[in-house]
Amino acid sequence: MQKILNISEKRILKKKTLSSLKNIFKSIPTKYLYDEKGSKLFEDICNTKEYYLTRVEEKLLKKYSLEIVKLSQPEDIFEFGSGSSKKSVLLISARIKNFTQLSYSSLDISDKALNMSFDEIKKVNKSIKINLFKGDFLNDLNKIYLVKKPRLFLFLGSTLGNFDDKLAIDFLGNLRKVMNKKDYLLLGLDMVKDVNIITAAYNDSKGITRKFNKNILSVINKKYQLNFKKNNFEHKAEFNSDKSQVEMFLKSKIKHNIEFSDNSNIQIEAGERILTEISRKFSFTIIEKLLEKSGLKIERKFQDNKKFYSLLLIRTT
Ligand code: AVJ
Repeated sequence: MQKILNISEKRILKKKTLSSLKNIFKSIPTKYLYDEKGSKLFEDICNTKEYYLTRVEEKLLKKYSLEIVKLSQPEDIFEFGSGSSKKSVLLISARIKNFTQLSYSSLDISDKALNMSFDEIKKVNKSIKINLFKGDFLNDLNKIYLVKKPRLFLFLGSTLGNFDDKLAIDFLGNLRKVMNKKDYLLLGLDMVKDVNIITAAYNDSKGITRKFNKNILSVINKKYQLNFKKNNFEHKAEFNSDKSQVEMFLKSKIKHNIEFSDNSNIQIEAGERILTEISRKFSFTIIEKLLEKSGLKIERKFQDNKKFYSLLLIRTT
């Protein structure tokens, strides 16, 4: 077991969450999809035949890991949202062969994910130094150590796609502040493609994405003493082509009320939708604009034959 450094700031999350439900366009913060059960369901989504993202990204990492570490020469590999670290293991294995002082750092919101990644990394190499940070990559980036040694930051899984323009630039801009000239960011992004392929990935035939989406209600019910009933809602995931993003909703089947612990309540109309997640599908035009505004630029692009997915190796401008 490894000591986890808690760098997360307790914020006024409750107020934020409840007011997002009282809004005209109701939403629930996406991060509540990822409690223990939600994270497990997400792993199951990755194994469905429709959800191509994880498979394509892993294939790209297998193919290009050596080239990526040769170009970036990292002495620390720093991962955001490590999950189970299966993917970073590919890069670590490629690097540790010719650089034995390598350290691994990870920032994740979940203790469980951090502990799992610790175990995975130790399996690759017993002596590798590991730093675990518990925190939120939107709020706690300023608290990660500034180090002199060259780092390769990993932000994989197209997680940047969950952020709208403002949040994406906040995240990338904050990361830019802790990056030195010799540091790199490896960004994994899902690219825009045939709408049917995209929507199928968020409406799998086994209904795992439906369970994953509805689980957010259990999370906030427990956290904020609310009384959402899963059966009152349908899972919806649609591609919004104007915004080039999948929008995942819970759509109410009936008109009903939700009571809050302060005795206030909200009314939900039949057919009303609560937004739980956006998943942007990128083009180079979109990502280059976000990077430019954040003081970053693409050094190398790696893509599969069908151009479904991109791994971008990024530096500071
Ligand atoms: C883990 C955020 C990249 O947006 O594709 C999978 C989460 N949501 N199915 C994504 C997700 C519905 C996933 N990310």
